[in-house]
Amino acid sequence: MMRAIAAPVTSTQSPKDTIVMLQDICVSGYLPRDLNILRAELKFPHRVRSRSFIVRFIPPNSVGAELGVYTGLFSSVLARQRKISQVTFVDPWWAAFGKHYPDWGIYTDYGRVSTRKAFEVAERRIVRCGLPNRIVEVATSYEWLTSLSEGSLDWVYLDSTHSYDGTKRELELLDPKIKRTGMIFGDDWQIDPNHPHHGVCIAVNEFLKTSNFELIFCGERSQWILRRSRGCKGRQLDNRS
Ligand SMILES: C[S@@+](CC[C@H](N)C(=O)[O-])C[C@H]1O[C@@H](n2cnc3c(N)ncnc32)[C@H](O)[C@@H]1O
Repeated sequence: MMRAIAAPVTSTQSPKDTIVMLQDICVSGYLPRDLNILRAELKFPHRVRSRSFIVRFIPPNSVGAELGVYTGLFSSVLARQRKISQVTFVDPWWAAFGKHYPDWGIYTDYGRVSTRKAFEVAERRIVRCGLPNRIVEVATSYEWLTSLSEGSLDWVYLDSTHSYDGTKRELELLDPKIKRTGMIFGDDWQIDPNHPHHGVCIAVNEFLKTSNFELIFCGERSQWILRRSRGCKGRQLDNRS
């Protein structure tokens, strides 16, 4: 069983918030028929459109991945970017969590969201973009990254474990798989040490000291971006284009 990605989430919601969330669902191109997913999506601010500015930084004709998909709200944004030649959407769904997601509060409708249904909704949203080379993988980020050859990715969007240990492990696995010109994007940059997802920020900062990535953006809408620095700090990347 995988560790929960989030402390249970609660919210007080205004009608305006509900409209924003409904708009985010509509933008994904598919309205879930499953009531637990619909409730979870209508009651939790997924910040889909407000995070979408990050796609501007994705290089053209690039190969990338989203690590952590859930019901594919943000995947739909990535999938329809024509400038992306290939993108793989990686999440373990039932392979890590069994029939239902754990109780992560509103985010999983208090443990009632079915992992299989979340996968089906995500897949529909991804397929709807109608573009080629949109691939869905049922695997953990660790398994999938280990299976890749060196230098095979231009970028990833990291939105999976939200924990210190998980992010640290993912960044270590990612380093050799990202090209010399590559980038790592992520969600949940939380500088408050009391925030349950603050571990992401700590893991990224440690990684910056041991790798040749530099932080080029962080904070707005909890997004962050790393790119390989041109300096000689950290690992040599002689064989990567
Ligand atoms: C916050 S949700 C992702 C939301 C999605 N990126 C979006 O913006 O709409 C986190 C997801 O990460 C998945 N996850 C947890 N551990 C993972 C891992 N090691 N590798 C890949 N995905 C993981 C969970 O199953 C969950 O669906």
